[in-house]
Amino acid sequence: MTQHVAARTAGQDTAPPTADDGRTLYGGKGTRRITVRDIGLAKERGEKWPMLTAYDAMTASVFDEAGIPVLLVGDSMGNVHLGYETTVPVTMDEMTVLAAAVVRGTKRPLIVADLPFGSYQEGPTQALRSAMRLVKDAGVGAVKLEGGERSHRQIELIVEAGIPVMAHIGLTPQSVNTMGYRVQGRGEEAAQQLLRDAKAVQDAGAFAVVLELVPAELAAEVTRTLHVPTVGIGAGPDTDAQVLVTTDMLGLTSGRMPRFVKQYAQLRSVMGDAARAFADEVLDGAFPAEEHSVH
Ligand code: KIV
Repeated sequence: MTQHVAARTAGQDTAPPTADDGRTLYGGKGTRRITVRDIGLAKERGEKWPMLTAYDAMTASVFDEAGIPVLLVGDSMGNVHLGYETTVPVTMDEMTVLAAAVVRGTKRPLIVADLPFGSYQEGPTQALRSAMRLVKDAGVGAVKLEGGERSHRQIELIVEAGIPVMAHIGLTPQSVNTMGYRVQGRGEEAAQQLLRDAKAVQDAGAFAVVLELVPAELAAEVTRTLHVPTVGIGAGPDTDAQVLVTTDMLGLTSGRMPRFVKQYAQLRSVMGDAARAFADEVLDGAFPAEEHSVH
């Protein structure tokens, strides 16, 4: 147990140390934005950190208050927020509006926005234009894009322009039409390709690498090999950071969950119960009561 978790468990009012005083990333007190330099220093200290997705200002402000150091405005917004079947239809306009809301709702976390499908595949120039829009119009501190060796030229140009890039390899949901949703990196050849992808994005200048749905042992090897942090989702316990899609983690998403998801709350039933209680009281006249009425 870390020191601040132990203190909280013991009921002491001890705030966790923050990146601002050079110690940990996870913590709620500092007000300056976390930077990619802070993220790099955490790897040097061997410190793990959490990342969550956010798509609106209010949820983002809750996570900021909880001390989450990095928020991802993921293109998972397509599935969980915009009602699309996949991430593929998400547009730059949609990403820009929602990323700007997350930035406005927060003070401390580094905000990373996904480059949507179709906004960087044409080449480095298109990728840089899209990344610049997210930095200038939405105010994000970094962008994320999918692909290893195949995306290294895009990463290089964006980083050269001064915009930090988080890479995303393993299962890359924007490639669902060619890849499906299957575990990646199984077997010697696929494992070697994943290692090549990881090194390619690091060499291109990525400050961190998401590893999605890869065997735990391979994710551990990538994490040992790279000097930049790895962020795992379905990649076992040995990555430097962990990310979950917020609606999954909160128990809002309906249906079967992937094995790697842990639900820390059951918000779907909480919200459904509240909606039914409100409806029942409207129907039987219990709401609004006298105290909810103005005269
Ligand atoms: O879009 C997203 O939420 C993501 C995470 C799954 C890493 O890319």
